[in-house]
Amino acid sequence: MTTNAPNDVDIELRMLVEAVYLKYNYDFRDYTGASQKRRVVAAMREMGCDTVSALQAKVMHEPNGFAQLLQYLTIPVTEMFRDPEYFLAVREQVVPFLRTYPSLKIWVAGCSTGEEVYSLAILLKEEGLLERSIIYATDINPESLEAARRGVFPLERMRLYTENYQKAGGKQAFSDYYVAAYGGVLFDRSLVENVTFADHSLATDSVFSETHFVSCRNVLIYFNRRLQDRVFGLFHESLCHRGFLGLGSKESIDFSSYATRFEPLARRERLFRKVSP
Ligand SMILES: C[S@@+](CC[C@H](N)C(=O)[O-])C[C@H]1O[C@@H](n2cnc3c(N)ncnc32)[C@H](O)[C@@H]1O
Repeated sequence: MTTNAPNDVDIELRMLVEAVYLKYNYDFRDYTGASQKRRVVAAMREMGCDTVSALQAKVMHEPNGFAQLLQYLTIPVTEMFRDPEYFLAVREQVVPFLRTYPSLKIWVAGCSTGEEVYSLAILLKEEGLLERSIIYATDINPESLEAARRGVFPLERMRLYTENYQKAGGKQAFSDYYVAAYGGVLFDRSLVENVTFADHSLATDSVFSETHFVSCRNVLIYFNRRLQDRVFGLFHESLCHRGFLGLGSKESIDFSSYATRFEPLARRERLFRKVSP
């Protein structure tokens, strides 16, 4: 006999996510199931729990339990100038429009440990736009935000980042932007002078500012259709008339209810423009 009833693990998972929402106000209820399950299983293994219910008890009652689980539920994987063709397209196709504004507001949503923010700041600096820009860099993971503020990244990643930077149309030596420090490399602090790193959830919070460009990459892949629609709604509301939206290489607006409210600027590179109203 086949049944559509959820199995025990799925039931426990839903209870865990609900408990996290009720107790900590972090809303993972509309994240996609399969990938969330994999991450919870990894957390169980690392946190020494045999069942999701045992993990839930730990998360509810142990001081550090939720902070630990959060590192699994959010996926901090990132790199500088990730998918360099995206940054090249921003440089060649978005920057000419951004130049026309006397001041700029840019939102990097789901910024993780900051690599995307530093990449955009470098690009804006090279295009003479950084000084007139305010960048809001937001995420729900406080540890990631703290790392982003520090701006210290592993030395061994610099070879890949240098290659990415060059493919992204970088105009200088990449090493001009950092010095060896704190067991890694410290990026030029002037890059983040006008950056506000802040806690903001795309699942529960609202729009906080009008922006000209929103870059939200490799975040929506973890959300179901309903949550994706919510987020596209936030971006549409935040963006100014004909503002720009950049997504990750596996993300699309095509099947969302906002599909007709954005038009492609560079479809392959996932750059879109708001169609008003
Ligand atoms: C895979 S990283 C992407 C980092 C960067 N944007 C990139 O493309 O390299 C996904 C980030 O989204 C963040 N995130 C997950 N859910 C979020 C939410 N509801 N609101 C804001 N950020 C969220 C995670 O904490 C994580 O830092």
